[in-house]
Amino acid sequence: MTVLVTGANGRPGAAVIREFARRGDPVRALVRDPARAGELAELPGVRIAVGDMLWPESLENALDGVDRVLMISGAGPLMLETQVTFIDAARKAGIGHIVKLGGDEGPRWDSEKFRSTRSHEQIQRYLLASGVPWTILRPSQFMEVYFEEIPDIVEHGELRLPLGDATLAPITVDDIAKIAHAVLTTDGHEYTTYRMTGPRAISMTEAAADISAAIGRPVRYVDVSPAEKRRQWIEKGYPPPRADAFVQLFEERRRLGSAHVDRTTHQRFGIAPTTFGEFAARHAEVFRGSATYQVTPG
Ligand SMILES: NC(=O)c1ccc[n+]([C@@H]2O[C@H](COP(=O)([O-])OP(=O)(O)OC[C@H]3O[C@@H](n4cnc5c(N)ncnc54)[C@H](OP(=O)(O)O)[C@@H]3O)[C@@H](O)[C@H]2O)c1
Repeated sequence: MTVLVTGANGRPGAAVIREFARRGDPVRALVRDPARAGELAELPGVRIAVGDMLWPESLENALDGVDRVLMISGAGPLMLETQVTFIDAARKAGIGHIVKLGGDEGPRWDSEKFRSTRSHEQIQRYLLASGVPWTILRPSQFMEVYFEEIPDIVEHGELRLPLGDATLAPITVDDIAKIAHAVLTTDGHEYTTYRMTGPRAISMTEAAADISAAIGRPVRYVDVSPAEKRRQWIEKGYPPPRADAFVQLFEERRRLGSAHVDRTTHQRFGIAPTTFGEFAARHAEVFRGSATYQVTPG
């Protein structure tokens, strides 16, 4: 059984590659830039394949002899085109099963309100119509996105987000990786959607308290307006379309107010869901600003 994971230099993709290596299972890792895949390439059983999902000719070697694919690409404006192009290439190469990483914030979430969830719905429809056996993994917000708030945490002791009193149920990419590994290495997951969240809905006041406990310094939640946060994102160098997409995302989260919690997939695969407090403690040095989060650590 040959498994290919795309987006292997990214957060969820690299976590899946590490999980295969930890379990001693061979895996092929698709990257665009092999120079950034040094640590992944050194993991046992990992074979790096170079290719661009938007360029089918570049994928021929990567897809050769592959049985199952975990399809991941970044959430940017090109995600729809990237993944439908890749689905066509995988179908032509005779791939027997595509597992797609999507995104989900619960049954009350309006997918049309946010660019990424809107694109995920379109890609999902394309995949279902492709005739290739499929599985969809639909995780909630990644805990790892809180690393983007480290400058405010370190400099001001503040977690500044435009969320009001809304709760979220973030999940760590390490839990997603364990579930993806199980789906890719065992049979019987075709035509199934697996939704997954963290174990609890937490307010940002609780998230700040968890980070504070982990780093041993006060951290308080500051509810900033979407316009103020957008200004900060632009200052940080986010392109305006990305900042606007995040404003859409947070506005929809604010509208929902309370996060949906779904532990059924963790239970189905016997995986204990990681709490935000455990995640913060595991990455205390990163939240303190004294270590850098590495997507692809050795
Ligand atoms: N962030 C969240 O909270 C969250 C929650 C649920 C679901 N998701 C979903 O998770 C997925 C990954 O998001 P992320 O922000 O975590 O991504 P990420 O860390 O940026 O990883 C995405 C990876 O895809 C690769 N990629 C992009 N275009 C490619 C192409 N044309 N050919 C080959 N590889 C390509 C990138 O390669 P390079 O390294 O070369 O750039 C990168 O390594 C998205 O679909 C997103 O909607 C995210």
